Amino acid sequence: MKFVFCQDASEVAEKAFEVVKKRIQSKPDSVLGLATGSSPLALYDLMIQSYEKGELDFSQVTTVNLDEYAGIDPANTQSYHFFMEQNLFSKVNLKKENTFLPRANGKNKQKAIEEYNAVLDQVGIRDIQILGIGQNGHIAFNEPSDVLNCRTGLVDLTQNTIAANARFFESIEEVPTQAISMGMADIMHTRTVILIATGKKKSEAVKKLYDGIKIDTHFPASLLWLHPDTIVFADWEAAYLINK
Ligand code: GLP
Repeated sequence: MKFVFCQDASEVAEKAFEVVKKRIQSKPDSVLGLATGSSPLALYDLMIQSYEKGELDFSQVTTVNLDEYAGIDPANTQSYHFFMEQNLFSKVNLKKENTFLPRANGKNKQKAIEEYNAVLDQVGIRDIQILGIGQNGHIAFNEPSDVLNCRTGLVDLTQNTIAANARFFESIEEVPTQAISMGMADIMHTRTVILIATGKKKSEAVKKLYDGIKIDTHFPASLLWLHPDTIVFADWEAAYLINK
């Protein structure tokens, strides 16, 4: 695991973007694993700007997202479908049929899970997986637990995550309590992992990840130590507990 420490969130986005840009330019049909949340937003902005300048072409790129809240309609403004549409898909020339997220709104969750695993099997190994990190070390929606899913599954969100994500909703009661999320093996089925961590709220998680003392399912991000090419881009605030 490689750590790149940056001054601020803008530098984090720029450094992460360099990796994404090089990969898409050298492999125009790249498969990107995408994340939601605030962490990747500045990176997505740079991808959009680069497309607008004519530097990057997404016409052959495929994207697969990490997760989606269970029971939420894709048209709902709080859904991750909507988030991706607003923050990236509608602003670059990605083809709609090449963008995938779990369809978590129907009654039959098992079917949605099987369908998403089939999508992941079909797209194969990704070129880059972009990740954020939860304050409790969750990645995608794989919450700290005695056991973690290998493949896509239905997961219960912890109170910590519900509280952290409540800022996107009118009230905490509106935050869904379950999600369909890629499992740990799915997340690692990528050539490169880019993990973005910015802000003081992430400092304990970043310190724990950096120390890398043990692989611990109660700190899911620690499993990334098993991946051969993980780069953590952290800003000064997120990294401030390291060497303290
Ligand atoms: C959610 C998402 C994760 C994301 C995390 C951190 O729980 N499922 O994929 O990494 O939040 O979010 P943020 O980037 O907003 O801090």
